[in-house]
Amino acid sequence: MACVVRACAPRDLPDIMRLIKEIAGIYKVPLNELRTHVEELKEAGFGKHPQFECFVAEVPPQQKSKEGHTLIGYVLSVYTFSTWKGRNLYMDNLYVMPEYRGRRIGKKLVTTAIEAAWQRGCSQIRMHVSSEKPENIRFLERIGGEDLSVKDGWNLFRFREEQLRQMAAQSKF
Ligand SMILES: CC(C)(COP(=O)(O)OP(=O)(O)OC[C@H]1O[C@@H](n2cnc3c(N)ncnc32)[C@H](O)[C@@H]1OP(=O)(O)O)[C@@H](O)C(=O)NCCC(=O)NCCS
Repeated sequence: MACVVRACAPRDLPDIMRLIKEIAGIYKVPLNELRTHVEELKEAGFGKHPQFECFVAEVPPQQKSKEGHTLIGYVLSVYTFSTWKGRNLYMDNLYVMPEYRGRRIGKKLVTTAIEAAWQRGCSQIRMHVSSEKPENIRFLERIGGEDLSVKDGWNLFRFREEQLRQMAAQSKF
């Protein structure tokens, strides 16, 4: 399959939003909980201070999807900073449409993101996946990732919006 992986352009953002909604469907997240939209992605990815880097997988028109789409996957990453390791990359989203899986497109997306991160001096890449999706864990292990929950006993924490509001209001700075 003649699939090209290339840097995301602003014109691709409606397709990225479509794929984000597909992911929301997989994880049974109601669409009204999805707060990002094309304009926000445009500002965050292509504005004055870009916050993420994105690569897309695109097939030629003759291999378009059942619904007529040619942009069929993406990886979206943000650069982070570790006090131990310096610049790192965090892969927030990696997705290939189901009908295009098993053709090394996911691996190509990851290796493209890794190549860009390596050139920018990153020494680590991190990603978190749900234990309810063991197939994603198997994919990451297959391409060489280490499962830190198993290896080092790491837990992932989150503070929700309401907590942020309360904690920020209580701050005595
Ligand atoms: C994970 C995902 C990106 C893999 O994409 P893909 O294009 O099918 O994977 P590839 O064809 O590049 O596979 C690369 C390697 O991993 C292996 N692999 C892929 N999926 C696997 C699985 N479920 N179990 C075991 N190995 C797997 C392949 O066999 C291949 O190994 P090989 O190179 O030795 O042949 C894709 O399945 C996907 O998008 N899943 C949904 C991810 C998701 O939930 N994203 C949202 C949250 S971030």
